[in-house]
Amino acid sequence: MEFAERIENLPPYLFAEIDKKITAKKKQGVDVISLGMGDPVEPTPQHIIDRLCKEANDPATHRYPSYYGMPAFRKEIAAWYKRRFDVDLDPDTEVLPLIGSKEGISHIFLSILDKGDMALIPDPGYPVYQTGVILADGEVNFVSLLERNEFNPDFSMIDPHALRLAKVMFLNYPNNPTAAVAKPSLFREAVETASTYSFIICHDFAYSEITFDGYGAPSILQTPGAKDVAVEFHSLSKTYNMTGWRCGWVAGNARVIEALGRVKTNIDSGIFNAIQYAGIEALTGSQQCVEEMREVYRVRRNLVVNTLNRIGLATRKPKGTVFVWVKVPDGFKSASFASHILDKAGVVVSPGNAYGPSGEGYIRISLTVKDDRLAEALERIQANL
Ligand SMILES: Cc1ncc(COP(=O)(O)O)c(C=O)c1O
Repeated sequence: MEFAERIENLPPYLFAEIDKKITAKKKQGVDVISLGMGDPVEPTPQHIIDRLCKEANDPATHRYPSYYGMPAFRKEIAAWYKRRFDVDLDPDTEVLPLIGSKEGISHIFLSILDKGDMALIPDPGYPVYQTGVILADGEVNFVSLLERNEFNPDFSMIDPHALRLAKVMFLNYPNNPTAAVAKPSLFREAVETASTYSFIICHDFAYSEITFDGYGAPSILQTPGAKDVAVEFHSLSKTYNMTGWRCGWVAGNARVIEALGRVKTNIDSGIFNAIQYAGIEALTGSQQCVEEMREVYRVRRNLVVNTLNRIGLATRKPKGTVFVWVKVPDGFKSASFASHILDKAGVVVSPGNAYGPSGEGYIRISLTVKDDRLAEALERIQANL
């Protein structure tokens, strides 16, 4: 049997690898606590589940959904954008529901890149950006996110040759894995640079609602001129504890959205209509659940950051996301520290270098575990440092 080169070039999916390690440790009888993946442990709010059940009982939802999402869902996404960010969107041309944002993030490269075309990808970054480019036979050009620049890209450091060749750039703030937020000038600079060099900006806004201490994350679509060059990816996954439901959307430039839609009509057949109704419920129902989750993560973030600082791992308090990005102690690398913690403490964290070469020297801790398990994981780390 022979397989495609692009599969050979694909790095193993990080969380699939982490899963294997957890299974192996559990087989040895270790009570593993995973702080590896950002998968909320709290259930989806009841009113959203109720809406799903109600709609799933209507046989009209059992048929193929519309390729471009239910008009009513697109309308409510546009209305949510208006309420949240005062951004006007045409629900018919500037909004496209996705089977989780990962699906759209991966497929968008098929609509933008020809073989060998360049994509500017944040390093470190959500692994799907890189693998999406590989699956589209494109070229990855990493843009380093460094601590000295608050994990924002420094446009003056990007090779002008790469800027000229680039067809797309990904941004993601609040950021996974560094938990950084966008500098006030970032989106203006990004839109100006993309306009100058004629490339598309994709902003991944999966953590838009998970922010702390009075900070509100801006949408790139609030930036003047953004809709000429940019689209923004969203997800119900983290905001409403709906990772398993697979529901998100992309909004912004109509031409980019049309191109992604064309790819998708040939690959998938849309989102189960009952889930889209549940999505409407999530966006239009009480937002108290979002407020409550923010508070849950804020308390966990404080526990992690305060504990790590106390035990000598200097760590900054992030203003957003469900992650804490931690520098490894002297004498360790990302992978050796993650292995040390797993072997000695039975705690899984993700090694920073798995998100790109500039993630070397860090680990990522996820806040999506119950408070008591998080406290126990921190105690075990402290005892085994
Ligand atoms: C930065 C980022 N973008 C996108 C996603 C994908 O989210 P989903 O496909 O569940 O919408 C994730 C999931 O962890 C993420 O961290």
